[in-house]
Amino acid sequence: MSRTGRARPNQWTERAGRAAFRFAVPRLGRVYESLSPGLRALSERFDVSGYDDCAASFRGGDMPSLVHLSYEKSLQHLWKSEVLAPWLGIHDASADDRRALAAADHLPSSAIEDVPLETIRDEVERELSPAKRFALCRIMDLIVHGEAYALYTSATLLPEVRGTGAKLGMAMQTMEEAKHFVVLRALMRAIGDVQPLPDTARIMLDTIARQKGHMKLFGMNVLVESLATSIFAQFADYPGLRHVLGAFHTDESRHCGFPKSYFATGVVPEHVTRSLLYRMNRTRIVLSALPVIWEVKPHFDVLGIDAFDLFGRFVSKAGRLAEASGMPLVWPRKELEQRIDLLFNAWRESFEPERFTGWVSYTSLERRERLSPVCAEREAAVFGIA
Ligand SMILES: [Fe+2]
Ligand SMILES: [Fe+2]
Repeated sequence: MSRTGRARPNQWTERAGRAAFRFAVPRLGRVYESLSPGLRALSERFDVSGYDDCAASFRGGDMPSLVHLSYEKSLQHLWKSEVLAPWLGIHDASADDRRALAAADHLPSSAIEDVPLETIRDEVERELSPAKRFALCRIMDLIVHGEAYALYTSATLLPEVRGTGAKLGMAMQTMEEAKHFVVLRALMRAIGDVQPLPDTARIMLDTIARQKGHMKLFGMNVLVESLATSIFAQFADYPGLRHVLGAFHTDESRHCGFPKSYFATGVVPEHVTRSLLYRMNRTRIVLSALPVIWEVKPHFDVLGIDAFDLFGRFVSKAGRLAEASGMPLVWPRKELEQRIDLLFNAWRESFEPERFTGWVSYTSLERRERLSPVCAEREAAVFGIA
């Protein structure tokens, strides 16, 4: 032992070690070089990313239409809750963001109002009775929790969709759903409260989250997003909500448009469109949404809104999107609408005869009187409404 307490190096062992190292490293390098093409082929065979580094693109192609409609549009219309509703206390905008977005003409005139939260609460309390506030909160529970499911579902769809444009678009959707969840939860906690999901809605959202690939894309981007746009359009001018729901509608409309643009790139396999099993499964998922209507209908009644009217329009929108996205149901859209109209009219005549004044086509999109011109124009483009 030396005076410092360290062991003296064994000079012979050290020299032998260095020689072995100098001998082995170049040979190991050569072995690795010779194995490298085989190892790469193995890596490509068990690839999970879908990424083609030779083309610097994800397999499925570049998809310029999706890059433009989902990625670029998302960034062009990026909104910050700190600008729309600074009173929520969410700090997601820089000083530059606030200056730039203050001048943006696509934002509602109420943006940048730096008012205290109490003023917003007063606005809600002044314009809505306690019973109406409660009903509104129970309807918005669907959306608050739905946004959390949308965040999970879009994040898990990212590895499943094919192509660069689709992955970029789904990445933007994931970011937007994260923002929707945080902002809407803060908004509803600020002006009311958030309670657990009704059982039927929880079952529907869980069923969709458990699906794989195109079935999950259908459940989320066709079914849930169509319902979300219908509810956002319905309440876009409501006290408290009016500050942010217009911006939500912009995002959700883009999410609704995703499956149509994705299908147009030709990456959806033919059996997904044609197989009876797939069409039956999609129909089953649509039907799983029906019980939700009766769970929330009493709250719509309190607000003086006909739930059949809103859900009828939702079914028609979902049916249109399904067909335009190469994911049709068992019945053609027109037939689905007739069945839903039959169900709603029969229910009203049997259980609410005092409200039955004759046959109503609840699925007709002609009756869009509650939509603002901006929302109506956006929906006409996304859902192919003449
Ligand atoms: Fe969302
Ligand atoms: Fe969405």
